[in-house]
Amino acid sequence: MELNLATLPGYLRQRHAEIRMFEPDTQFRIEEIGDGNLNTVYRVSDTERPEHSIVLKHAPPYIKILGPDYPLSTERLTYESCALDVYNRLVSGTVPVQYSFDAEAAVIAMEDLRDARVLRADLIAGIVELGIPEQIGRFMGIVHSRTYVDSIDTETAQHYRRQFANTTMQSITADYVFTFPYTEHETNFWTPGLAPDVQRLKTDIGFLQQAEYLKQVFLTAQQGVTHGDLHTGSVLVQDNIAKVIDAEFAFYGPVGFDLGLYWANYLLSYFSHQDALRVQSALKTAIVQTWDTYAAEFEMVDTESKARTLQGVFHDAVGFAGLEMLRRLIGAAHVKDIEGITDISRKLCVERAALQFGSTLVKQHQSLCDVASVIAML
Ligand SMILES: Nc1ncnc2c1ncn2[C@@H]1O[C@H](COP(=O)(O)OP(=O)(O)OP(=O)(O)O)[C@@H](O)[C@H]1O
Ligand SMILES: [Mg+2]
Repeated sequence: MELNLATLPGYLRQRHAEIRMFEPDTQFRIEEIGDGNLNTVYRVSDTERPEHSIVLKHAPPYIKILGPDYPLSTERLTYESCALDVYNRLVSGTVPVQYSFDAEAAVIAMEDLRDARVLRADLIAGIVELGIPEQIGRFMGIVHSRTYVDSIDTETAQHYRRQFANTTMQSITADYVFTFPYTEHETNFWTPGLAPDVQRLKTDIGFLQQAEYLKQVFLTAQQGVTHGDLHTGSVLVQDNIAKVIDAEFAFYGPVGFDLGLYWANYLLSYFSHQDALRVQSALKTAIVQTWDTYAAEFEMVDTESKARTLQGVFHDAVGFAGLEMLRRLIGAAHVKDIEGITDISRKLCVERAALQFGSTLVKQHQSLCDVASVIAML
């Protein structure tokens, strides 16, 4: 059965015992709330008692915005469901509660964070709450260290590795973050005035070598449970509380990838707020805060191994941050923070500065040793 607005009420009635939010005779109000590319996200509420509501995330067997001619395994939702379980166990309260998962129909029923805002929208509006990077730093520090290959026994590590062998989604990221932006690819686009900068980047041997090295780290490092898509659109915020969503890319990989994506999106926001010094200063503090909390929460018994591990994670994160910034400027998926700038010459100026910064992060990721050195380059 194809799930859509017409068929959902029947589906919900069939599944009401598993979902446990509604009575069998509930009259539903259903609206599509997702704005994503891959899946459909619905809010379902009881027309009589609207405070009784859930969010349903459904993965069709193809890329939603492209249609059935572009197949994509629905297993992505199984990984998201597993990740929600792991997160709930390790850092409960930092993800929506998962009510039920239906693998066959590829549907997760979860807590409706009704009044939450997408973090990216807050940053665009210049709202930078410092409690948020602290919570995300804690979230990453706990999940990464408690699933880190050197902190757990071999059997548990193998279990995570098998559970999160999300190769389909990993190879999409490998293409769109590490490969396509630096080749001639139909999905790439950029502001016309940026062409000389893009050309320089694509012929910079030092940069291309480091980008290739980071791609290999991304594909081969098996360190811990990595969210895989932790940008500022994957965090919902309400009353200064952060919740992480959208874990369909979760895999057992290089944990610095999460930090890198999170930082990169704060950095893009930083460049977009060119003349707002107060906002920029708060964003810099947020980037430092993320790391400080991450490092404090990253648990490892042996302090020397912890220091060594964190240094490696830091270097990877800096390189990944640079590549994430670049692909958001010249690849397929740009960010609203910058796309929303209507004055083209201002936009170009922001993009030039961000592109320069991103490429420096990639080239220098092995020599930058602490977050203060990154901030000092801004
Ligand atoms: N539990 C929730 N409570 C409230 N709103 C939610 C919840 N989960 C998702 N949303 C809303 O739906 C949107 C899309 O969710 P999500 O990012 O998980 O979908 P997606 O299809 O995987 O998106 P993408 O294509 O960007 O990966 C979110 O930005 C948010 O606005
Ligand atoms: Mg998604």
